[in-house]
Amino acid sequence: MSEPEPDSPRRRFEPLPAWVSPATRLVHGGRLPDLNAGAISPPIYQTSTFRYPSAFSEAAAHGTVRFYSRISNPSTDGPAEVLRQLEGGDAARLFASGMGAISAVLLSLLRSGDRVVALQDLYGGTTDLLRDLAARFGIRLLEVPAAEARSPEAVLDGPTRVVWLESPTNPTLSLVDLRRWTEAAHRVGALVVVDNTFATPINQRPLGLGADLVVHSATKYLGGHSDLLAGAVIGREAPMREVDARSALGAPLDPFAGFLLGRSLKTLAVRMERHNSSGAAVASALAGHPAVRAVHYPGRGGPDEEAVARAQMDGRGGMVALSLRGGASALPTFLAHLRIVQVAASLGGVESLISVPAESSHRHLSGTELAARGIDPGLVRLSLGIEEPTDLVRDLREALDAALPP
Ligand SMILES: Cc1ncc(COP(=O)(O)O)c(C=O)c1O
Repeated sequence: MSEPEPDSPRRRFEPLPAWVSPATRLVHGGRLPDLNAGAISPPIYQTSTFRYPSAFSEAAAHGTVRFYSRISNPSTDGPAEVLRQLEGGDAARLFASGMGAISAVLLSLLRSGDRVVALQDLYGGTTDLLRDLAARFGIRLLEVPAAEARSPEAVLDGPTRVVWLESPTNPTLSLVDLRRWTEAAHRVGALVVVDNTFATPINQRPLGLGADLVVHSATKYLGGHSDLLAGAVIGREAPMREVDARSALGAPLDPFAGFLLGRSLKTLAVRMERHNSSGAAVASALAGHPAVRAVHYPGRGGPDEEAVARAQMDGRGGMVALSLRGGASALPTFLAHLRIVQVAASLGGVESLISVPAESSHRHLSGTELAARGIDPGLVRLSLGIEEPTDLVRDLREALDAALPP
């Protein structure tokens, strides 16, 4: 992390001692000494524009004061600063959704003719966007199946502009060796972008493993209460300058959503502690259930994956996938018998949710593509909330009992 420029917006935040840990940074990292009139909880700066300090302000012209909320607003700069500190980046910017952040990164970095190498197991919206850009703007896209993702050196055999990674992957929660991928990518001159939505900076910090940019759907764990849409990009100075220059793409986070996100970030560390322990508890409690064919959870994919998990993760998260022995025909009974866990898309909130990837996030894929990704028709993806873990295990067990094959 480099020192901020003397005029950088980072100078506006109260500096914290270097010894401060992430949980404390989450609470105090976005304090603005000059603007809050002493309020412990920051106000919502519901304004589109800001008064210039003088009729024509040199400072505004050079971007050192706030003048327009598409570029900068205290309600969004605070949570952006907290995320910058947590991920260990030089700069951070917030967007109206995760896809807003992802679009801004891709449209900032790519030129026609560039080659992008992306994992096959990405969030479906990212894959759709990459395929669309490839078809319409002459981007050369290579999608890497999970089996080949174990040998990045073999995949990255020529000049590449962007490598796009996700770990844990969605929905089968397998892991990608981020350090090995970034080393191989940098050897062919590529910038590495990691979607860190599932892990959060509490469990994994890709910039510290060599990545150049991190993106988040802040709609998920960072927002944490299923009540906002937001996206974030955090990264090294040079690629972030490219992303900043694309503020004209026009998808900034709204001040009210920024306020909600800042409020949620204060509890991220304690929420992740619970998500991590519930994830581990549910994965091991359901592994032997007769209605379950397989449990997917980071590190359960064998000794190599366990070694990757230990090397790059501080916690395994609250996402668990179950493959039901009864396949698709077991789903209606299983889902109908859940009383706490609710069937819905999205993840990362305080309430537990369950989805069927083959029918929701991955419904656009053909049967062959689903099979290639290990997504069988009876696979369900659980996002465990912060309820009492024993209640969650009981709810899931009772619904699985009901769905036992005859
Ligand atoms: C891993 C991942 N990245 C990005 C996104 C897109 O984020 P949003 O829905 O906030 O646009 C999602 C949404 O589900 C996601 O799961």
